Amino acid sequence: MPALLLNSKNMDLSITFANVHFPNPVVLASGVLGVTGNSLKYVIENGAGGVTTKSIWLEEHLGHPNPTMMGNEHFFVNAVGLPDAGIDKAHEEIGKYMNWHDSQGLKAPLIASIVAGKVSDFGEIAEKIAELKPHLIEVNISCPNVEDELGKPFACDMNQAAEVTKIVKKRTNGEYPIIVKLSPNVNNLTEIAKSVEAAGADGICAFNTFGPGMVIDIDTAQPILANKVGGVSGPGLKPLVVKGIYDLYKAVKIPIIGTGSVLTGRDAIELMMAGATLIGVGTAVYYRGDEVFGKIVREMEEWCDENDVLDISEIVGRTHQI
Ligand code: DHB
Repeated sequence: MPALLLNSKNMDLSITFANVHFPNPVVLASGVLGVTGNSLKYVIENGAGGVTTKSIWLEEHLGHPNPTMMGNEHFFVNAVGLPDAGIDKAHEEIGKYMNWHDSQGLKAPLIASIVAGKVSDFGEIAEKIAELKPHLIEVNISCPNVEDELGKPFACDMNQAAEVTKIVKKRTNGEYPIIVKLSPNVNNLTEIAKSVEAAGADGICAFNTFGPGMVIDIDTAQPILANKVGGVSGPGLKPLVVKGIYDLYKAVKIPIIGTGSVLTGRDAIELMMAGATLIGVGTAVYYRGDEVFGKIVREMEEWCDENDVLDISEIVGRTHQI
């Protein structure tokens, strides 16, 4: 069911990010639900203002064995290992979504997420993904779960992060807004953000998962995840996400997708006040079901209604003006 919006005062939840218009700020985060063209469309039907695909590799990439995830009321840990069938399969699925978008009036933009193990492969996958004319491209340089395979994430090094940004921008002829997904697991976050901004990034996604962390089953003394460690997400991380976005907003001019810890409309408003323009929602699906996108949108509208906010973009970075 499409989300029914309250809109009692003609409030406008639509927002522009890197010159791309979103009907509302709530977007599907990469790696959750969005595996096929149909599933991406399903997320929009559940109220999201945009979708991010799971991260796409040049070739098929096998993920980690099960169990790959576990969660409780405080946190969620996962190490899926970025499984993907490769760019040829992605062509079909993204193509389906783009056709719907164009022909059926779906106004929700698609963010294509790409991943690679080498800088040159990032260039190649970026060029291939651009053939599908996604509205934006997100560059995943920050997955914490493939370190054994690929080494430290590029997002942990300002020079490598900039190199990837430059090659993606170059191989897509500067025709697509490029969002770089940063890692929270660094002690020079703002330097890294400035470095990708200078390299041509049009936006930042903050953040990928934290850690990695580990959960042990005390009956067997074994780590629960087959990969032993996994990226940590969930509601308990919100103060860290808010502080990171707050610092980034002061450090760079490019817009931010605040991703991580959002379960409710009030959480989304909080990240926007810290400086986020869009809100990525992923783990919340585990806590509130597939309808979570529309629920968050309605809660944001309720809050705006109660607080006389007619245009959601008014609250972006509000805490910095206080
Ligand atoms: C995985 C990838 C991520 O980028 C992340 O934040 C957590 C998990 C994965 O596929 O294992």
